Amino acid sequence: MKYRVESKDQYQQFYQTSMEDQNKYWEERAQTFTWFKKWDSVQTGNFKDLNVEWFSGGKLNITVNALDRHAENTPDKVAIFWEPNDPKESPIQYTYKELLEKVNQFANVLAGQGIEKGDRICFYMSMVPEFLIGVLATARIGAVHSVVFGGFSAKALAERINDCDAKLVVTNDEAYRGNKIVPLKNITDEALEKCSCVKSVLCLKRTGGNIKMQEGRDHWLNELLDLADKEFQPAEMDAEDPLFILYTSGSTGKPKGLQHTTAGYMLWASETYKNVFQVGDNDIYWCTADIGWITGHSYITYGPLLNGSTQVMFEGIPTFPDAGRFWQIVDKYRVTHFYTAPTAIRALEACDEKFVNEANLSSLKVLGTVGEPINIEAWNWYNEKIGKKNCPIVDTWWQTETGGIMISTLAGVTDVIPCHATLPLPGVCPMLVDNEGNEITSNPAEGNLCIDRPWPGMARTIYGDHERYRQTYFSTYPGKYFTGDGARRDKNGNYRITGRVDDVINVSGHRIGTAEVEDAINEHEAIVESAVIGVPHDIKGESLVAFMIPFHSDSSSQDLLTSVNELITKEIGAIAKLEKAIVVPGLPKTRSGKIMRRILRKVASGELDKLGDTSTLLNPEIVDEIIKAMK
Ligand code: WT7
Repeated sequence: MKYRVESKDQYQQFYQTSMEDQNKYWEERAQTFTWFKKWDSVQTGNFKDLNVEWFSGGKLNITVNALDRHAENTPDKVAIFWEPNDPKESPIQYTYKELLEKVNQFANVLAGQGIEKGDRICFYMSMVPEFLIGVLATARIGAVHSVVFGGFSAKALAERINDCDAKLVVTNDEAYRGNKIVPLKNITDEALEKCSCVKSVLCLKRTGGNIKMQEGRDHWLNELLDLADKEFQPAEMDAEDPLFILYTSGSTGKPKGLQHTTAGYMLWASETYKNVFQVGDNDIYWCTADIGWITGHSYITYGPLLNGSTQVMFEGIPTFPDAGRFWQIVDKYRVTHFYTAPTAIRALEACDEKFVNEANLSSLKVLGTVGEPINIEAWNWYNEKIGKKNCPIVDTWWQTETGGIMISTLAGVTDVIPCHATLPLPGVCPMLVDNEGNEITSNPAEGNLCIDRPWPGMARTIYGDHERYRQTYFSTYPGKYFTGDGARRDKNGNYRITGRVDDVINVSGHRIGTAEVEDAINEHEAIVESAVIGVPHDIKGESLVAFMIPFHSDSSSQDLLTSVNELITKEIGAIAKLEKAIVVPGLPKTRSGKIMRRILRKVASGELDKLGDTSTLLNPEIVDEIIKAMK
């Protein structure tokens, strides 16, 4: 495979070139893709002016690179093995030639709805093949996809639809999720009561459940697809035309729509997939993520297809019909490369060992993890029980903002160190800075993780709010991109990510902003004010705990927990539900009125000797009352 890193020496060499002669490095790789027109310059702009561009002047369509190239060279190679939620239902498979035809049909359906280049299309679907096909079709027609995870509430969906002014929504009637059914279309209907921008809805029939179709607005996707033509002329996109928007949570305010552009993202998704996973021509790759998250964008929709891989796409959940499902699927398709999240590993580790022992798993060659720090117990279990100590584990650190993997072992090429992401990929210049913003150059070191120079896959802006993009990522340490994560670096330069250093909480690999959850809780009629923190959780990594000041002092924590969780589920979605609620008479605040969550975290973890200096608080006496309330 062209330009794939094959050895440790070559990694060193590639890395060095990418730093010393960045443009040469990326130009060589860009030339392996199909372009309608070559670029004028490789990279321009910088973090100071926040005007980064890659391959500007170039014209291309990402789906030509993900589909047409392979439909021509390896038309009969399977692109997707789709495994349904219920193992009794028939699986579906598409070759590259068939997938291209499906995408073309979908693109024709979009064109029939009046979708044009640059329009935003929102996807609110479960992991059915049409989800992947629709997202690709959006890119093929030159529109911008904005995928909203199917676990978000009607309110959260409406906010995201309105923020990017989406013209069309694609959904399914209902989703199968283990033995549950999620009423996606009903939720969409509720959301659309508040979205005047949406002109049409395409609804895929999946369960056949009873739903309402609004005359003139709603269309059955299956019927339109069946009638659509299998040819479609891909749109010519500028390298810097937006490809997608994806919302993610931060420490303050509403979720942000990170915008990624075409050429740089394409190169990043493709090159990182190729180098990190080292998937061979006959290998079978499986990433268990949902396309609702960035992992499903970069390592289901784009990375594997850009490289012509065969992959498994799974509709269901790890524990249905039983906790052996992942391992049964690995055996069924002889999966060689398996990529999942620590939370799934821990959940399955907690189940009866017979589920693993009943599986063969001998096809596996490479294991991957992503989304949150992996603890050593989970790492060892993954290594021993799943990898049989025979598969390198790639611990891939990256973010929605980075577009693709930034720091990771390259499977079978560079060294694995348990619980360490290890070394930066070519093109990535990580650095650690102290709280004053001074770079720490000595090793070993610990500090705030920043990235020093533009890379092709970086988000270019927050949709509609470039200033917020600057504020959020480039103002804490001017001239550098600040990740929000803390990290350690060992004497050989290997990174270990320690977790968020801001007010973002990672629950089961999902990013949750404290401010969003507090806003939801504060809507509750019985609550004056609240503060949310993350506490360690055996399976989820972290779980949410809220300290709440009620209007009436006789309100009980338990009663409030139930009704607050109902409210959170409505405002955000079940993923943001609280594990625990504690009624308190007040919250610790600085003199400027900022809630000191650090103190709440120490109280919650019982580290009362580590509270630090509380005398500068506006209300130091409240700390003892909170400690009392905890008991
Ligand atoms: C945050 C990004 C990257 C796709 C999924 C999550 C945490 C991610 C790792 C890892 C330790 C990790 C970080 C990061 N994170 N991967 N391998 N080790 N932490 O994307 O929702 O944008 O979240 O997830 O805290 O900042 P995301």
